[in-house]
Amino acid sequence: MEICEYSVEPDHLTKVKRYDNFNFPYAFPGNVKDHLKKIANFKVQESDVLLSTYPKSGTHWVREIVSMLLRGKAEYTNDPLYSLDFYESSCLEKLPSPRILQSHLPYRYLPKELKKHGRIIHVSRNPKDTAVSLYNMVKKLTFMYSSFTGSFHALLQCIFFSDKFAFGNWFDFVKEWERTMRQENRGCRILHLHFEDLKKDLKSNVRKIADLLDLSYEDEFINLVAEKCTFKNMKNGKESNPQPYWQNCTHDGKMPIFRKGDVGDWKNWFSEKENEKFDKEYARQMRDSNLTFQYFI
Ligand code: A3P
Repeated sequence: MEICEYSVEPDHLTKVKRYDNFNFPYAFPGNVKDHLKKIANFKVQESDVLLSTYPKSGTHWVREIVSMLLRGKAEYTNDPLYSLDFYESSCLEKLPSPRILQSHLPYRYLPKELKKHGRIIHVSRNPKDTAVSLYNMVKKLTFMYSSFTGSFHALLQCIFFSDKFAFGNWFDFVKEWERTMRQENRGCRILHLHFEDLKKDLKSNVRKIADLLDLSYEDEFINLVAEKCTFKNMKNGKESNPQPYWQNCTHDGKMPIFRKGDVGDWKNWFSEKENEKFDKEYARQMRDSNLTFQYFI
């Protein structure tokens, strides 16, 4: 493992832990090789559900829905996001069931037992809004991802035109997940959700999640969960009772998750030139892909 500091533009660096030709967040615990081994050997329970996302694709949103459904209560959880990436397995193994685990890692690094018989919810978001959301988040963080201090343009270079950012190149991530979801002899169940579909019709997506969890609720409860998990309600509810750990990892001590929750904000950030360059790269990288992303709704 190496600690890498990449220069992303004059005077600006991104700092990551590099191992196995992949860039892990600088805050990845200890030695990457050892931590990956613990993740791979993590003991999975039948009731576990793993939430998989590229950062800023709707992780907290879907986690809240899953938590309400599992508890049978349309009330916000105060649990932290239990991430395989950042928590020690010994701590996660002690959590009460059913556990909601989370990871931004490519499929190849996930627990072996999960791949055999687990339940995964994979959430995608259009790459342009993902980049905007990521840029706005990392600016607020004192550490965690990669201590990135560069411009929006530099971030685009890092995640779309190289792999210099924590969790690697966005195209590599979605393409590996697409290959995984296409595998017919896969042991685990994967529900693939799109951020934009959740925005368009939250209720039917809450129902899809309940189905994956084998929970058959009446429409009344599904509607209640969807209502609690609109952007406005979640922002108010969660920000009034934030997790204490945000105080230590953001510059202003506030929860940096609920910004706009929109589809199409990228229009306010991408220059015409950046947009053209991105579209060209997308066409090149995704020419063999069947994935589609929605840039407006
Ligand atoms: P924006 O920065 O575009 O607002 P993650 O949880 O993976 O870090 O993703 C965060 C993004 O999801 C943020 O996007 C945030 O506003 C959005 N989000 C969180 N909860 C949401 C909700 N209930 N409805 C819509 N968007 C939501």
